[in-house]
Amino acid sequence: MDALKFEHVSHSFGQVQAVDDLELSVKSGELVCLLGPSGCGKTTALRIAAGLEPLQQGRIAMSGKTVGEPNRNLAPEERGIGLVFQDFALFPHLSIADNVAFGLSRASASLRAERVTTALTQVGMESYRDAFPHMLSGGQQQRVALARALAPQPKIMLLDEPFSGLDSRLRHQVRDETLHVLKESGTATLMVTHDPEEAMFMADRIALMRAGRVEQQGRPSDLYFAPRNAFVATFFGETNELEGICVSGQVSTPFGSIPTSDMADGTEVSVLVRPEALRLKTPGSSEEPADNTATVLAARMLGRSSLVHLQLGDHQDSTAQSGVTPHEVQYQGHPLHWHARIPGRYLPAEGEALDVYLDRSQAFVFPRNITN
Ligand SMILES: Nc1ncnc2c1ncn2[C@@H]1O[C@H](COP(=O)(O)OP(=O)(O)O)[C@@H](O)[C@H]1O
Ligand SMILES: [Mg+2]
Repeated sequence: MDALKFEHVSHSFGQVQAVDDLELSVKSGELVCLLGPSGCGKTTALRIAAGLEPLQQGRIAMSGKTVGEPNRNLAPEERGIGLVFQDFALFPHLSIADNVAFGLSRASASLRAERVTTALTQVGMESYRDAFPHMLSGGQQQRVALARALAPQPKIMLLDEPFSGLDSRLRHQVRDETLHVLKESGTATLMVTHDPEEAMFMADRIALMRAGRVEQQGRPSDLYFAPRNAFVATFFGETNELEGICVSGQVSTPFGSIPTSDMADGTEVSVLVRPEALRLKTPGSSEEPADNTATVLAARMLGRSSLVHLQLGDHQDSTAQSGVTPHEVQYQGHPLHWHARIPGRYLPAEGEALDVYLDRSQAFVFPRNITN
């Protein structure tokens, strides 16, 4: 059964449709990320689930029970949820233990003490129980906020940009710890973030939103390797792009023809290629015929990978050679400047000529002139 379920949830603020027909569920033990650009409705959706925003349209269910319907909203404290927000404000005048105990006022003193110890141990902060918030670093305070939310042992955790107040190194460390704490606790978690890398790091499943609507949901690999539209493909990182026209189920590119699935002849398409989909080799080093050649404009080591700026060579379209009428595409006559991302320390020299191979599973073709 789904621990949390949004059924056709819509919400507007005056003229602004903040959430539009949201359908989403989170199972026990599952971590789902609601991802999307600023203003797309993520926080509103989370607040509706929490009961902080009265439901206007649709239904919210928790473990099969309706907790939100239009004009009938269970109060947040009745929903069995744990909340963590970006500004994880701890009470400055309360000790760490008392901060964590705050949501446990209804429990007996002995149960409260036990839950506080359990939660602080879960996040590795047990030795700080008598400290006060100002004595802790930002990362430690965030862990205490997580402990405070976990202490009542909620079935559902709702997190809104929980790491964005932390600097980048701390953010990586705290989100790693948080992932393990949440997974061990077995709660269902819905986490809001605008950062695609963070979503892929944390999530079992991602729902990517735009303008109140979910564009695509699935495993991170589904969204990354099988994006449904150009918005989804480009949201996960820079892509190289060219335009073309569908002819007999194919689009001609500098790397040969690429299938366009079921598009009508004459459909104008965009071809999006991730930088890591380009493999580079020194000419003559492989038996395999290259898809194209390129000249290195610049190459920079970025740490884990290197970025190579390429000027692609002449069009080598296999369909042209096989007698099919070649068709006009915009790149012809114009030099194409593309980026390739390559692993390791190898850096080609500026001006070097290279063979280029395209991993077609990371080249995506979408119809143009549709707002996607
Ligand atoms: N209380 C509010 N009153 C009016 N408009 C709001 C309110 N909260 C959010 N909005 C608007 O709703 C849209 C979605 O906001 P929000 O859910 O905060 O997006 P996100 O969390 O994805 O950045 C935005 O256009 C925002 O300006
Ligand atoms: Mg937000």
